[in-house]
Amino acid sequence: MTQLTALSIASEIFPLIKTGGLADVTGALPTALKQHDIAVVTLVPGYPSVLQAIEDGQTVLDLPELFGGPARLVAARCGELDLLVLDAPHLYARPGNPYVGADNKDWPDNALRFAALAQTGARLGQGLMPGYAPDVLHAHDWQTGLLPAYLHYSGKRGPKTVFTIHNLAYQGQFPRELLARLGLPERAYAMDGVEYYGSIGYLKAGIQLATRITTVSPSYAQEIQGTEAGMGLDGLLRLRAGDLSGILNGIDDKVWDPACDELIPVSYDVETIGARARNKQALQTRFGLKPAADALLVGVVSRLSWQKGLDMLIEVLPELLKGGAQLALLGSGDAPLEQAFRAAALTYPGQVGVVIGYDEALAHQMQAGSDALLVPSRFEPCGLTQLCALRYGAVPIVSRVGGLADTVVDANEMAIATGVATGVQFTPVTAHALAAALAKAQALFADHAAWRNLQINGMTTDVSWRNPAGHYAKLYRELADA
Ligand code: ADP
Ligand code: GLC
Repeated sequence: MTQLTALSIASEIFPLIKTGGLADVTGALPTALKQHDIAVVTLVPGYPSVLQAIEDGQTVLDLPELFGGPARLVAARCGELDLLVLDAPHLYARPGNPYVGADNKDWPDNALRFAALAQTGARLGQGLMPGYAPDVLHAHDWQTGLLPAYLHYSGKRGPKTVFTIHNLAYQGQFPRELLARLGLPERAYAMDGVEYYGSIGYLKAGIQLATRITTVSPSYAQEIQGTEAGMGLDGLLRLRAGDLSGILNGIDDKVWDPACDELIPVSYDVETIGARARNKQALQTRFGLKPAADALLVGVVSRLSWQKGLDMLIEVLPELLKGGAQLALLGSGDAPLEQAFRAAALTYPGQVGVVIGYDEALAHQMQAGSDALLVPSRFEPCGLTQLCALRYGAVPIVSRVGGLADTVVDANEMAIATGVATGVQFTPVTAHALAAALAKAQALFADHAAWRNLQINGMTTDVSWRNPAGHYAKLYRELADA
């Protein structure tokens, strides 16, 4: 196999900057692709946390003017990741969340901040840096959606592009008046260009103009071609259906490995699964829950947004707790949901524990100590927490949508009989069906042998990047040969 080079362009990358699963994916896929002889370099913005982590980086190119100020490209290695960091202080020297300021509002210049990232990615593809010529460009989510547009309207040749949709709900829509400032010609403002319902659509541009489009599960790839999940883009996605495919995410099985996870109290594997009991105890202590071994401990690790369906959990909570279960929730996001869960913890002391915030170590402890992990999403492009749950022997309880449908095998009679069940799925996504799923989980939990089977089936499921990386590798090679 000849070696292929790819430039991945992303606004987040684990472990340097993360707000969600996008960072996990962009941080793990490059390493997995090495097995396929694909060398990936990732272009990321030079946020303070990124610059701090690459102190030994080398300036490889000065860009005297990039959307209102000077910038430079810094090449660096971080663990196994090869990075090109776009250091542009006027755009990225802002601590904390990469998209919003301290007031929790989008930075007013986000259009320019991410156009700069996309444009630099496109230019790198077209030879901006002497001696560097990637075979394929792989852009992620709306923040890099203009990349194929910059290539297309430059009039110059460039590599083929893959555009991955991680979440159709975030579309990056900006006023049309910005067109010239973005460095795009007037003709780009067209139906078959960047125009989107009277404004400039970054996600739309990516979908319209990339060579190939992927999303992060086969089910989501189907769902987004319908009006409900399509969120305004279903027509275009149907038009491009021939170039659209779903490739499931994996998880980094070194970062997420219960057998040698230093962030959890007691490590274990499928042979020593009984040791999970001590992680459960520790988790109950951490969340102020009663130390009851026989109470089903349901964990939630999630952004608190409408997508995740956790308002329905609030609705059915009394019913769940009446059955003797406990809830431990780690999450942050929409203020009303944060408040509702804080209030629930006060109403049900010893039975509901809530940590509002973002805590990577605690996320691991929850996977290692919860009996079940709940993901009741209204839509879910892939979802990673249910994959971590499978690997850690926390039985996932999920709605049957997107990647959740594709990664969890529901404990129906047939699946139990044939020994392949790994969790509980419910549909439709309503509070009523959620309550039924939770009741079903409680019944299964009471049957120790049945529950143990679910755990073992989950822990022996391959949730790594091995398979998915093969699909991306094939796609890159097709494009490089085309
Ligand atoms: P999304 O990207 O939509 O938020 P995913 O399931 O794909 O959903 O990825 C979420 C990632 O963020 C997982 O790695 C999960 O462990 C992590 N995560 C979410 N919320 C928290 C939190 N409050 N604390 C720590 N990690 C979190
Ligand atoms: C998005 C989606 C999530 C997916 C993640 C990584 O944040 O909401 O389902 O797992 O991207 O692809």
